[in-house]
Amino acid sequence: MERIICLAIGYLFGMFQTSYIIGKIHHMDIRQYGSGNAGTTNALRTLGKKAGAMTLIGDMLKCVIAILIVDAVFKNRYQEILPLLGMYTAAGCVLGHNFPFYLGFRGGKGIAASAGMLLAMDWRVFLICAVIFIGLVAITRYVSLGSMAAYVGALICFIGFGAAGSYGMDFPHTFEMDVIMGLMTALAIYRHRANIYRLLNGTENKLGAAKTAAK
Ligand code: G3P
Repeated sequence: MERIICLAIGYLFGMFQTSYIIGKIHHMDIRQYGSGNAGTTNALRTLGKKAGAMTLIGDMLKCVIAILIVDAVFKNRYQEILPLLGMYTAAGCVLGHNFPFYLGFRGGKGIAASAGMLLAMDWRVFLICAVIFIGLVAITRYVSLGSMAAYVGALICFIGFGAAGSYGMDFPHTFEMDVIMGLMTALAIYRHRANIYRLLNGTENKLGAAKTAAK
């Protein structure tokens, strides 16, 4: 039951759509512009650097806050499975971000929210993934490629040595945690299927390209 509660808490927080809200402030639906994605890259692409930065921070923070709340609420009763509950919370957050019911289940791809999960659960894995992401984007200018590679990097870290340093546990991961991370990785790649198609065709948007017109 506690797992379902964490998933639900995460979903509620995940539905806070930073880029959609910023878009609405600018009297537009960000999902009608650029790649059509409600996320950091498309906010940067269509609304500029400030909107991109605010979206990144907002979408990361919502996952960090959700996990901190779950930690505080469950720490006495479920101390030994807190990292697992953190993952359920993060998975809920990504689902809420990707499939917000009040926006017709059309949201983003969950990358910034997932970065928030790593930041909350293990800053070492966050750093590793940030280096993968920044390195690949710097070389290729493809944010989608960097996002997917960083996600796979996070999965390898989880399976290799767990990722719960913030909980003071060195090797805490369980098969259940690995499965959740595996499913989250699969979902992230599935959400990038249009990007993958464009990457293969050589038509993917590059970071720094001119602002994109309406779809
Ligand atoms: O975080 C999403 C990013 O990987 C790709 O975004 O807008 O280019 O589809 P976008």
